[in-house]
Amino acid sequence: MAINWFPGHMHKARKEIKKVMPQMDLLIEVVDARIPFSSENPLVPALRGDTPLIKVLNKRDLADPEVTAEWQAWLEKERGVRAVTLTHNQRAEALDILRLAGEMTPSHDRQKSALRVMILGIPNVGKSTLINTLAGRPAAKTGNEPAVTRAQQVIKLPDNILLYDTPGFLWPKLSPEACGYRLAVSGAIRSAVIDFEDVALFAADYLLQAYPDAVMERYQLDQRPRDGLALMDAIAEKRRFFSRGGIPDLHKVAEVLLTELRAGKLGRISLETPAMIEEETRAYEAA
Ligand code: G4P
Repeated sequence: MAINWFPGHMHKARKEIKKVMPQMDLLIEVVDARIPFSSENPLVPALRGDTPLIKVLNKRDLADPEVTAEWQAWLEKERGVRAVTLTHNQRAEALDILRLAGEMTPSHDRQKSALRVMILGIPNVGKSTLINTLAGRPAAKTGNEPAVTRAQQVIKLPDNILLYDTPGFLWPKLSPEACGYRLAVSGAIRSAVIDFEDVALFAADYLLQAYPDAVMERYQLDQRPRDGLALMDAIAEKRRFFSRGGIPDLHKVAEVLLTELRAGKLGRISLETPAMIEEETRAYEAA
């Protein structure tokens, strides 16, 4: 699956971030708790150097709590970063992240100079929501189209903290291929970029393997389908989604399955685990 991610914008963002990142005292990277690996931006590990980093696993309300805890432990052990979880409308918890930022920069004297914190995240992980929560007002400009040119925003927060929004748009991991599929399943990559039914089939296969009970309960299936396609056929049957001639309408099934999954209708579902990612990375590097 090839994903085109606006090479001109990638180049511009890389240049600008490279310029401003060394001036930062701390970085906050917002990722989607359902896909903490696939929703990372590859520039962050490449450019951060020794700058302390807090990973915010956001949208935890949608993710499997056990898997999220595994991710937190993995990120802290394997990556040496602090990993916290968050969900929208939790201002006190969001402010705790700023407290943690203070603890992680003990030698910085905020009486003398502001603590400069940069917030990063690929589109749709909830970065603007977090900025607005921290600012206590609608401070983040929205408009998630890479074609929209955005100047860097600086937001003044209490306790002499300056929050720098990322200049430009960040892109997600584009390989291994499964990362692209999981981004699409989560809704981070718009369906126009990759085939909708392919994405749903990927989701159906994964759900059967990782969350069979959730999917069988949601679609009231008596027997476990043998694979993703059989699951999509079974959903068509249950919901009576047929095209002319009685053929299962897989486009409609794909739409319903992805919409319900993204809305949390199948329960709290994580789309990747540290063990899966380690295995995929090994296979990718060996290929
Ligand atoms: P971005 O700046 O990273 O691009 O993301 P943004 O804050 O715009 O959030 C993207 C979508 O994710 C928004 O939904 C937002 O409401 C939702 N969101 C943010 N944080 C959370 C969270 O913790 N849990 C859940 N479930 N959703 C979250 P939207 O449908 O695009 O917009 P709207 O319907 O909320 O207006």
